[in-house]
Amino acid sequence: MTNKLKYFIGNWKMFGDLGSIKIIFRISRFLHTFKKRNKVVLCVPSTLINHFTKKIKSKNVSIGAQNCHQNKNYGAFTGSVNARMLKNAGAKYIILGHSENRLEGDTNFIIRKKIESVMKEKMNIIFCIGETIKQKNKGRTFLVLRNQIKGSLKKKFNLKNIIIAYEPIWSIGTGNIPRQVDLIKIFKFIKYECKKIFRTKSFPKVLYGGSVNEKNIRMFTSNSYIDGFLIGGSSQSSKKFIDIIKNYYK
Ligand code: PGA
Repeated sequence: MTNKLKYFIGNWKMFGDLGSIKIIFRISRFLHTFKKRNKVVLCVPSTLINHFTKKIKSKNVSIGAQNCHQNKNYGAFTGSVNARMLKNAGAKYIILGHSENRLEGDTNFIIRKKIESVMKEKMNIIFCIGETIKQKNKGRTFLVLRNQIKGSLKKKFNLKNIIIAYEPIWSIGTGNIPRQVDLIKIFKFIKYECKKIFRTKSFPKVLYGGSVNEKNIRMFTSNSYIDGFLIGGSSQSSKKFIDIIKNYYK
């Protein structure tokens, strides 16, 4: 049920300038000497994608984007970029459905359109789902997750290109992380639910995201369902990001 290869995906959010490439150089140098095989992706602001992909020669770090417009072609959408433009800039991955974008108006339907546009460009998707604290307290977590999955993923989608990131909204940037017993149940649910809906032979890759740091990462090692992590704040520092990877395998 668990895919052996672990993903460590950084979500820089609105952070970084051209000089921030030094963070990625340091991570790349560390990975060069690190024995375990991982997939490391840094999802950076659109302004940095092209510069970074040109400068980073090593294949051990991929560059991704954080969102895109759902329109497949150019259009009158001030301030937006679409999947094709991000691919052209060098992005290999795109985060979609992040709760911060859902707050700004991304619905399940819009996210589905975005996924379709990214699929067309044959890029990888990190599809975020997660419940609010209110929904959790009302016992609605599974219902919310099922609705988000069914509302945005079509049966015909190739799940091989989609990595699901479970990010409870109450955990993002708060320092609160779920109890591991709850997390195991949720991961099992997401994996079996997707397998059932999409009638796939294998389980999808599912990451955990929300306040992951170098101190709490060890808590997740007992959860064999986790395929990796989506890391926000702690991915903005090479030291923290490297320590997360190191400590995970300690
Ligand atoms: P955080 O963010 O690690 O800072 O909580 C995670 C995310 O928003 O993807």
